[in-house]
Amino acid sequence: METRIANAVSATDEALAVLSRGGLVALPTETVYGLAADASNGAAVARIFEAKGRPRFNPLIAHVSDMDMARRMAAFDPLSEKLAAAFWPGPLTIVLPLLSGAPVHDLVTAGLDTIALRMPRGFASGLIARLGRPIAAPSANSSGRISSTTAQAVANDLGGKVELIVDGGQTPVGVESTIVKVDSGRVYLLRPGGASAEDIERIAGMPLTREHSGKVQAPGMLLSHYAPNAHMRLSVSRLEPGEALLAFGPTRVENTAHASAMLNLSPSGDLRQAAANLFEYMRQLDASGASVIAVEPVPLEGLGEAINDRLKRAAAPRNGV
Ligand code: TXA
Ligand code: MG
Repeated sequence: METRIANAVSATDEALAVLSRGGLVALPTETVYGLAADASNGAAVARIFEAKGRPRFNPLIAHVSDMDMARRMAAFDPLSEKLAAAFWPGPLTIVLPLLSGAPVHDLVTAGLDTIALRMPRGFASGLIARLGRPIAAPSANSSGRISSTTAQAVANDLGGKVELIVDGGQTPVGVESTIVKVDSGRVYLLRPGGASAEDIERIAGMPLTREHSGKVQAPGMLLSHYAPNAHMRLSVSRLEPGEALLAFGPTRVENTAHASAMLNLSPSGDLRQAAANLFEYMRQLDASGASVIAVEPVPLEGLGEAINDRLKRAAAPRNGV
């Protein structure tokens, strides 16, 4: 298949045509690029799983453009309603009970009785409104690899497997949405992401619950994920010869002269800037050919929780790969 790249400024009609005939469109959201299909079209959704090499048990997020569309999909409890009102459109995904008759194919939810919903900003939002139905969209990367924050990264990873890539420049948040689920009056954090735990706690008026019981979890949270070709060594204070350095803040690593390549996520120590740069810098250091990427510690507060989560998964042992 030939992949076309179109500028987001004028791509809505073309993207709509591709989605309407059951094709795949890679498009920018405020978090990362998504690989989108019409959520009500089973054959189209199946193409997402094929293109990514994604296991079918791993459900997708359904993206909506407004609350009316969201309410046709899922039953909102008062706490989820409050979170939606505060964070949508934005980088928060809420897992909710699926309504019967909702316009989504079973493949989207992997047969679960819940659905992950999110209202994105920007190009995606206008496109969904025009389609009049939700789009299913996982991150636009091969399963297990680094998520894409630029159209070029999507083209390198999924070129030939998607009809159209909509180029909206670098995505501003840079890490995927935070995923929460309300259960028995508690808010469970299923995946840290672009909405910080502190901000969610302030709106919810209670601390988030992080322990994951068997029934409250995101099936896709496999330990090895976001894997570059290089190995990742975390929380370093000294480099070994030949390592590439992913620095953070005014660097405390003393022997940076040893680095085969070096990028700083945020020289001033700004966690938002670091999140925005994370995946692209991992890709660039990987492309430098270094066999190890050493990473300076990143604090855990705010978006640091999502950054540390992604780094830990990128560093995890890979199943035979
Ligand atoms: O920012 C984002 O969330 C991006 C953009 C494109 O919107 N999307 C994204 O999708 O990160 P994906 O497929 O890479 O991650 C979706 C996660 C998976 O871990 C999946 O297991 C979880 O959401 N998920 C989906 N439906 C669920 C459900 N019903 N219950 C629990 N977890 C669910
Ligand atoms: Mg993903």
